[in-house]
Amino acid sequence: MSQTIPERVFSGVQPTGNLHLGNYLGAIKKFVALQESHDCIYCVVDLHAITVWQDPDELARNIREVTAAFIASGIDAEKHIVFNQSQVAAHAELAWIFNCVARMGWLSRMTQFKEKAGKNRENASVGLFSYPNLMASDILVYRATHVPVGEDQKQHLELTRDIAQKFNNDYSDRIAQLGLGVPMAVGDEAVNGYFPLTEPVIGGPAARVMSLRDGTKKMSKSDPSDLSRIVMTDDADTITKKFRKAKTDPDALPSEVEGLQGRPEADNLVGLYAALSETDKSLVLKEFGGSEFSRFKPALTELAVEKIAPIADTMRRLQADPAEIDAVLSKGAERAREIANGVVADVKEIVGFVGARG
Ligand code: TRP
Repeated sequence: MSQTIPERVFSGVQPTGNLHLGNYLGAIKKFVALQESHDCIYCVVDLHAITVWQDPDELARNIREVTAAFIASGIDAEKHIVFNQSQVAAHAELAWIFNCVARMGWLSRMTQFKEKAGKNRENASVGLFSYPNLMASDILVYRATHVPVGEDQKQHLELTRDIAQKFNNDYSDRIAQLGLGVPMAVGDEAVNGYFPLTEPVIGGPAARVMSLRDGTKKMSKSDPSDLSRIVMTDDADTITKKFRKAKTDPDALPSEVEGLQGRPEADNLVGLYAALSETDKSLVLKEFGGSEFSRFKPALTELAVEKIAPIADTMRRLQADPAEIDAVLSKGAERAREIANGVVADVKEIVGFVGARG
């Protein structure tokens, strides 16, 4: 697919607490890398967080925690844009319009909704059901072309493309008439659309970070065991203790990646080492193949402490002064609004609302 909308990166992280190594390696670390090649917008998606109950005091703390993690990890809030979603009303405005574009059937198929709603769907919030429309709005309100996310968000990105395509289609005459179309190829067909068909950016050695207590389960903020995850504010002693207690198996490490099959814990720890040292698993096994965990674990611990502890220190310093974090968010929101309001004005005009340009 070729399109002439300039490349722009957007991604979001939910402020739901317990930000962990999976969030860092699977998302934030990639956000940092993309800054070199793209204009990036990184958002703390607080509107998404309240699709399930959030204690208000904790929510405020968690919004600042994610912001601190972004900055401490190396996201440059001056060159790029960092803000929280609720400060930019355009997200909710465009989401309403997408509520009227997306079909009930599309949303009913979303596996994340089915998982989060559980058995008692009647009792899920309406927001939880329409969550993917708001996510599509987050992305498309900046006409973003690339979205770094974990595997689990692939289906939501497909839905985002479906919404963009249906909007482009339903309103194609109007888009052309207003001269707002951008040439893009959909399959073999050349069309003029308003919204880009956004691509996910997925992958890397730690696209999936697993629990330290059970290599078959994802590392998760909601695991009852604190030992299952390294959180981004863990100090060196805590990191050391958690890796010491991390589950392993009795064998030495294999010298080839294939040898990790059927050894989920070994696979996870080798993957973590690879991601933290920015190599891949085969290179890690070249160094550590044949080693016992008694040798590998201390090396992994040292590496994790070296990479994570300075981030944790900076986060703690930033979190001690909420005013500084809040200023970053409010400046970021101002710059985000400038882009997003322009897109919403276009969309209102495309849809046929009167008074779109104020
Ligand atoms: N749904 C994403 C998650 O749970 C968070 C999110 C919301 C997001 N809006 C987004 C991610 C837009 C990427 C782009 O991880």
